[in-house]
Amino acid sequence: MRVLFIGDVYGSPGREMVELHLHKLKQEYRPQVIIANGENSAHGKGITSKIYRRFLELGINVITMGNHTFDNREIYEFIEDAKYLVRPGNMYKNAPGKDYVIYQCNQTKIAVVNLQGKTFMQTYSCPFAKIDELLPEIQKQADIIFVDFHAETTSEKIAMSWYLDGRVAAVVGTHTHVQTNDGRILPKGTAHLSDVGMTGPRDGIIGVTRETILERFTTGMSDRFTVATGPRQLSYAVIDIDDKTGKATKIQWQIIAEDIKL
Ligand SMILES: [Fe+2]
Ligand SMILES: [Fe+2]
Repeated sequence: MRVLFIGDVYGSPGREMVELHLHKLKQEYRPQVIIANGENSAHGKGITSKIYRRFLELGINVITMGNHTFDNREIYEFIEDAKYLVRPGNMYKNAPGKDYVIYQCNQTKIAVVNLQGKTFMQTYSCPFAKIDELLPEIQKQADIIFVDFHAETTSEKIAMSWYLDGRVAAVVGTHTHVQTNDGRILPKGTAHLSDVGMTGPRDGIIGVTRETILERFTTGMSDRFTVATGPRQLSYAVIDIDDKTGKATKIQWQIIAEDIKL
């Protein structure tokens, strides 16, 4: 099975890049499963029902989330019915939504898990303990297990990949919005990439207008976040997994960058 993973889709610039390039990516890589992180897809904060449905229409099979899952309150109205939307599994026990999602592609079932890191982020339960708790029940239902680890630090992400080496097919990171160049297959067959990077405005600061973030850093004052405009990018990873063993055989990562004069 080949999986295409699209990193944090940020606001309308990110959604437009998905609209513009997904078809070409499908032709180029022929993925069987497409996963996208949608935690910032609604103006940088959360996701709406309309965006979720549009992602599915475009051929994205599973949407993962992160620390911004509940920032757009519309999600409370549809998260329980959103069969292919997964939020961090280690959120509070009673949080609405799913700890993992299972997607069936022909005869193969892939489980997609989303976990949130505990370093420099709001801490829920321990993501390491939570995945240990979830794996036995997931293994009964799926042939392949894919983890989107939504975390701030590369150390926590690398630690998670080694922790899960041989137990899941892939651990790819999201949240920092900056693609790392450390993709590899670990010795027991788990693909690792610390961060897939962002799909959205390239010349903002991780998606937000430069003025807003610079003001925050230089004066300590914070204004409302506004989605940056200008050239856009689409960040993705492609992971090949052996259906029989559930182990990864190859990982590639790339950014499509566009220069657009506004
Ligand atoms: Fe994000
Ligand atoms: Fe995030």
